Amino acid sequence: MSSLKEQLSQLTADAFVACGYDAKYGNVAVSQRRELADYQCNGALQAAKPYKKKPRDIAQEVAAKLSEDASFAEVSIAGPGFVNLRLSEQFLSSHINHMAGDENGRCGVPTSQEPLSIIVDYGGANIAKPLHVGHLRAAIIGESLKRLCVFLGHKTLGDVHLGDWGLQMGQIIMELERRNPDWVYFDASFEGEYPSESPVTIDDLQEIYPAASARSKSDPEAKAAAQQATSELQSGRRGYMALWQHFFDISVGDLKHNYSQLDVHFDLWLGESHTQPLVADMVQQLIDDGHAIYSDGALIVPVAEESDKKDMPPLMLVKSNESIGYGTTDLATLVQRMRDYDPDEILYVVDGRQQEHFKQVFRAAYNSGIVPESTKLEHNYFGTMNGKDRKPFKTREGDVMRLDDLIQMIMSKAEERLEEIDAAADYDATEKQEIARQVGIAALKFADLVNHRTGDYVFDLERFSSFEGRTGPYLLYAAVRTRSILRKAADQGLQAGDIIAAASDEERELQLKLLELTDLLRFASETRAPNHLCEYAYSLAGAFNRFYAQHHIINEENKAQQASWLGLSQLTVDVLVLVLDLLGISVPERM
Ligand code: ARG
Repeated sequence: MSSLKEQLSQLTADAFVACGYDAKYGNVAVSQRRELADYQCNGALQAAKPYKKKPRDIAQEVAAKLSEDASFAEVSIAGPGFVNLRLSEQFLSSHINHMAGDENGRCGVPTSQEPLSIIVDYGGANIAKPLHVGHLRAAIIGESLKRLCVFLGHKTLGDVHLGDWGLQMGQIIMELERRNPDWVYFDASFEGEYPSESPVTIDDLQEIYPAASARSKSDPEAKAAAQQATSELQSGRRGYMALWQHFFDISVGDLKHNYSQLDVHFDLWLGESHTQPLVADMVQQLIDDGHAIYSDGALIVPVAEESDKKDMPPLMLVKSNESIGYGTTDLATLVQRMRDYDPDEILYVVDGRQQEHFKQVFRAAYNSGIVPESTKLEHNYFGTMNGKDRKPFKTREGDVMRLDDLIQMIMSKAEERLEEIDAAADYDATEKQEIARQVGIAALKFADLVNHRTGDYVFDLERFSSFEGRTGPYLLYAAVRTRSILRKAADQGLQAGDIIAAASDEERELQLKLLELTDLLRFASETRAPNHLCEYAYSLAGAFNRFYAQHHIINEENKAQQASWLGLSQLTVDVLVLVLDLLGISVPERM
């Protein structure tokens, strides 16, 4: 079934055609002035010029045609020629019951008729470096976009695309060699088997990486050695590979834990390193086809275009010391993705500061034919999460805040907030802790997603975690409270039933809001903008509150009316829980 807007646009287009005009003028939109109309069409204004008629005259003809349709309670004309549509009660009830009766848990949202194959590249954590808050937005936004694509019926894979093949690996290897020169991993002549146990722990790595990176920044010799080690690792030096594998395994374990605390889950745990077997052939092909050229001992792929307003540096393919970098692994990843999945779209949910990098990669990929024009590559970038000083969020000591610490901080704030509202007070410790986690995650994710992804925002835990206002905890509470109303009703033997005509404006508004769902999800997905889901969830909760304040459901004597209101309440929670789930936010059963 098509969305409400599509159905109404179809009816309106039919009316335009019946009156002798092109169907394309039939598009409708939700009316911004609800007191005048539910939906509105401004096609008559656009048709006026080509048909050399007054817009009001066209509107009049079309409106007369539309009023014959039982879908509308009222069709009127406003201003210079807007056609205002008010839906009939019958139309509303039949659609709302269709949503409520959906047994597939989809609240009436159809899956796409043209399912696409989509890869969402998000997360982007780096091996051996701790996850930091910069990776937080990628995880939060990417997870939401992925869930939205999946829900709309697209064949979607989320890939974490680990940073595991860059200079940091050489830096850590050299730092370890400096500290433990006698380790067997550094003996180039060793031919036996390396120990299966890692010589370092995740905590060691978290201490070693900053030290190694600082040394490589301040000491040119250390830097050269790290570059050399990276190059040797990439060419498969055994001892380095064995060490690298340990780093990889322990880091991935730690990352999986962190991401799952955030309810972020990847289908693919691939990384830059997995492209290594493809690099040599790809580079050769690029040389053969004339896309890659030598410059100062390095191989580069020029990607500048005449229309460029800014200088566009070439993509660095192979450095003069033979090592490869970020551009090369991203290009080779495209070779791998086209070969293994042949996707229609690849969405990169990565920091906005990498815009130039992705321009280089996309141009190189299209120009060389690695990616055909029919596959869409998009950098769905995001802004930064800032501290109160408007600079990227840091710890009080001025260090980059680790994600782990941030999660702990949010969790304890959530516990505090729950105590304030006296929620979950007598639940057992495990349940209480899980509720605090859910409240904390809701606070964090909603506060992030409510902003358009390209903007920056200021981290403000007090505000994010409040149970009042436009926050995640407020919405969780709204859903949990409605669930508890329904539970109480069920305890009294009251069940939800068919939804009948709205008994008040407030109820009608709620029904109309619910009916926007399919259009909203499509719009959010097409624009890659989960903030629309946040706005919707918030206004749905508001519409429900106004409805609930207006009607005394439990005391209602008319049983059909009561069952209808319970049905509408049930549908509201289902939609709210669904939209929150698409934001990556899970709702506790009770609070
Ligand atoms: N590891 C990178 C970073 O920390 C992000 C990777 C994003 N994905 C990609 N295909 N380049 O900045």
